Amino acid sequence: MKTVFVTIGNQKGGAGKTTTTMLLASLLHARCNLKIAVMDIDPQKTFSEFRDREMVLINKSIEEKKWSDLSRAYANLTKDGKGVFDVFAKVLPNEEVDLMLVLSEIANLKKLEKYDIIFFDFPGYLAESKFIRLLVTMDVVLVPFYPDSFSWQSTYMYLRTLKKFIDKGLGIKKLAIFGFRYSKARRTREFDVYMDDLKKANINVLQGKVYDSTGIEDFRSTIIDYDLQEEKSLMGLCDELVELVNEVRN
Ligand SMILES: Nc1ncnc2c1ncn2[C@@H]1O[C@H](COP(=O)(O)OP(=O)(O)OP(=O)(O)O)[C@@H](O)[C@H]1O
Ligand SMILES: [Mg+2]
Repeated sequence: MKTVFVTIGNQKGGAGKTTTTMLLASLLHARCNLKIAVMDIDPQKTFSEFRDREMVLINKSIEEKKWSDLSRAYANLTKDGKGVFDVFAKVLPNEEVDLMLVLSEIANLKKLEKYDIIFFDFPGYLAESKFIRLLVTMDVVLVPFYPDSFSWQSTYMYLRTLKKFIDKGLGIKKLAIFGFRYSKARRTREFDVYMDDLKKANINVLQGKVYDSTGIEDFRSTIIDYDLQEEKSLMGLCDELVELVNEVRN
């Protein structure tokens, strides 16, 4: 089984990398017969610390016999024999990332073929060469796009750089963009213009989206077994990702 490396990438801070990684990893783990892991290489350690906090809450809930959505989801996944997906934190105690260490870990995981998909959560900035080195080891890069003109500028530059890497044969087999914090109400004519530009540049625009939601805090989790709000568009995104993963494998 070939392991496919996926990252949700964007050079902009707060562009939705960690949230989307969490939603996709949790849903694919719970609902598909796929072995998933997440590698946290972000010095902020958002993903791995979130999982650690969730495990503390679950243990407390089990100990006190006070069930919550989270501990119920955990119990159901455990009962099904799935448990939770693996999360590896690859950040040193001084919040530095040792590129050589991470690259050798990536090579090991490639050889091991234990997982179907490993998501990598790392800062998107292209100014630091070590994150560029990591980016080009990825098979699939999904780029969240928030439709406003500032984000667009930065996302478009990022996509053009990635396209250059791909054209030079530097890695990255699949590149696609999807709407993040998408809202029908706020959908502007500008959005369609952006999307046309992308299609002209031969960049794959996915149909699945992450909708804008004030309740994001309630359903964002590394341990999900229940139905999500906006589930259809998220499941659509999951299916499209699985399709890209299968294309990489074949
Ligand atoms: N679907 C959503 N609807 C509304 N707000 C959202 C949604 N998803 C994420 N957010 C908010 O957007 C912000 C950025 O999300 P996130 O942390 O996932 O971005 P990031 O790209 O990982 O950021 P960083 O560059 O700091 O790692 C967070 O404050 C989060 O609560
Ligand atoms: Mg993040």
